[in-house]
Amino acid sequence: MTGRIPQHFIDDLVARADIVEVLGRRIQLRKAGREFKALCPFHDEKTPSFTVSPGKGFYHCFGCGAHGTTLGFLMDYDHMSFVEAVEALAQMMGLEVPQEEGQRPARRYDELFEMLDKAERWFQARLKDDERAVEYLKSRGIDGATARRFGIGYAPDGWSGILDRFGTSNEQIERLLATGLIIRKDNGQHYDRFRDRIMFPIRDSRGRCIGFGGRVLGGGEPKYLNSPETVLFHKGRELYGLYEARQALRSIERLVVVEGYMDVVGLARHGIDYAVATLGTATTEDHLNRLFRLTENVFFCFDGDRAGRAAAWRALENALPMIREGRQIRFVFLPEKQDPDSFVRERGAPEFEAAVEGGMPLSDFLIEELASRVDHDSVDGRARLAELARPLVARIPPGVYRELLMQKLAEAIGLSAPKLAALLSDATAAPKGPAAAGRAASRPARARAIHGRKPSVVRRALTLIMNFPKAGADLHVEDLAGVDRPGVDLLRDIIETVRAEPNITTAVLLERWRKDPQGRHLGKLVAAELPDDEEFDPAAELAQCISQLAQAGLHDRIEILIEKERLGSLSADEKAELRNLSRRPAGGGIL
Ligand code: UTP
Ligand code: MN
Repeated sequence: MTGRIPQHFIDDLVARADIVEVLGRRIQLRKAGREFKALCPFHDEKTPSFTVSPGKGFYHCFGCGAHGTTLGFLMDYDHMSFVEAVEALAQMMGLEVPQEEGQRPARRYDELFEMLDKAERWFQARLKDDERAVEYLKSRGIDGATARRFGIGYAPDGWSGILDRFGTSNEQIERLLATGLIIRKDNGQHYDRFRDRIMFPIRDSRGRCIGFGGRVLGGGEPKYLNSPETVLFHKGRELYGLYEARQALRSIERLVVVEGYMDVVGLARHGIDYAVATLGTATTEDHLNRLFRLTENVFFCFDGDRAGRAAAWRALENALPMIREGRQIRFVFLPEKQDPDSFVRERGAPEFEAAVEGGMPLSDFLIEELASRVDHDSVDGRARLAELARPLVARIPPGVYRELLMQKLAEAIGLSAPKLAALLSDATAAPKGPAAAGRAASRPARARAIHGRKPSVVRRALTLIMNFPKAGADLHVEDLAGVDRPGVDLLRDIIETVRAEPNITTAVLLERWRKDPQGRHLGKLVAAELPDDEEFDPAAELAQCISQLAQAGLHDRIEILIEKERLGSLSADEKAELRNLSRRPAGGGIL
C-alpha cells in the first residue's frame, strides 16, 4: 500500500516533521542538553532512559532498545500502519497526502524527470554518432528496432559530456546531481558519472526515465554502473523492462524475472517480451507485489551458476508470503555458464520458452534445495530438514498450498503428514526454555549477544554516515568498487544518496530504507552510542573506514589474481593489473 504515496512526499514529511513536537503531544519530554528525555512509553521505568534527538529526528530508549523516527513512533505508540502514520503526520503538519491518481508532483520532480528525458535523448543521439558503440550492440545481436524500443544510448568517453551540455546554470547542475548524472568532487567541481558506456534507460510504470544502467563496452570495471538511489529511483522497487513489457503485451500471461539488462533486451530481440530484471539487487517483496499485480504466473530465470542459484533462493524466500491459490511461481535453471541472453541466442526462442514451461515449481525447489543441505539418508538429517523447513513454511499463508507443500515435505522426509505438521507446529509454538529467556532480555543486551564480535568496518561506517549524513559528503564511492563485503552495497548506496542530496537527514535516510531487506536494520545503528566530545570527527573517521575497506578490497583482488596466476589462468590484462597492484605500498592511504 505504501507504494501509493509518493516517496518524495514521505521524504519531505519526515524531513520537516518536528519529532519533539509530535512526541511531546503524547509523552512528557524534558530538555537535557541538545536532546530531550522522557520516561519510556514502551516499558516500565522509574528514571527516564528514553531519549529524543531533534537533530537526527530519532528517538531511542537505552532501557528497552525501542527506537525509530517520528513515523516509527506513531506506528509503535499509536499502533498505526505505515500509511496511517503518514496520514496522521501529514494532518498534524497541515499537508494533504497526494493520491496516486490525479496527484500533482512537486515542480521539482517534473524538472528532474525533464532532465532525465533530455539526457536520455542526448545519449541516444550519441549512439548514432559512435560506430564503436553501434558495433558493440551489433556484436551482441541487438538490432536497431530493439535498441529503439528500449531507448538504448551511449555515453561518450570524457569527463564532461553531459555536464557541458546541460549543466549550464547552478540550478541545472543541482538537477544533474539530484538525478545522479554527475558527481561532485572535493573541490566542488563536477564530472559525468557515465563515461564510455552503453546506456539503458530505466523507466517507471508511466514510462518516464528515472535512472540508467550503463555497461562498459570492453572489459572495464565495474561492468555495469547504475544510477544511485535518488528521489525518483529506488532499486529495490523498480524492474527493468516492465514498462516495455506492458507496452508490448495486450494481456500479461506471465512474467519472467531475469538478472540482467542484456537478458531483457536479448530476449525481447527474439520476441520474448515478458522478461523483466531486478537492478543488481535481490528480488524484494516490493518487486513481487508489483509483478503479482500484473499476472498470476511469475517465473524466475537466473544464470546457471552458484550465484544464480543463490539469487533464486533469495527470491523464493521473499515469494513465500505471496503464495496464493491460483498463483504460479516457478524457477528455471539454465545450464551452467548460460544466461537467458546467451541461451536464447544459441538455441532460439522456442527452446527458451520450453525451458520456462519446464521450470521447477516453488515447492520442488524448496524441498530439493533443503534436501541438498542435509544427509538425507540419516534420521538426524531428516530431522534437520524439518528444522530447516520450519521457518520457511511459517511464512506461507495458511491454505491449500501450504497443506500440499507439507504433504510433499512429509514425503521427502519420510514422515506421515500429520506427524510432520505436529513437528512443525510444535516448534513454532510459544517459546519455552532458554530461547524464551533470550527474548525476554532487554533488546540492547540481545543485540550485543548477536553482534558480540568486534563491529565490522562496514558497520562502523554505516553507523557514522547514518548518524552524520553530512560526514559522507566528500567520500568517493569509487573507492569501494570491487570491495566485496557484506553491507558494502548498502553503504555505497547511502554514500551516493548523501552526496546527491547533501541536506538529507538521518530520519529521511531511515525512512527511505525502511522496507529494504538490508536497510531496515539501520535504526539499530542510529541508536548506537557514539562519542560526544570535541575530538570526535565523524567525517575523518568515516573517511578512514572507507580507506580501510578500499585497502581490504585491493588485498582481496590481489589474492584472486595470485590464485589465478597459480592456476595459470591469468589474462594479459590481469597480469598487468597484478603487477600494477603489487607495486602499490601495502599500508594506509586512500587509493
Ligand atoms: P551479470 O554480470 O550477470 O551481467 O550481471 P549480464 O547481464 O550477463 O551482462 P552481459 O551479458 O555481460 O552484458 C547481471 C546484472 O547485475 C547487475 C546489472 O543489473 C546486471 O544487468 N550488475 C552486474 C551491476 O549492477 N554491476 C556490475 O558490475 C555487474
Ligand atoms: Mn550476459
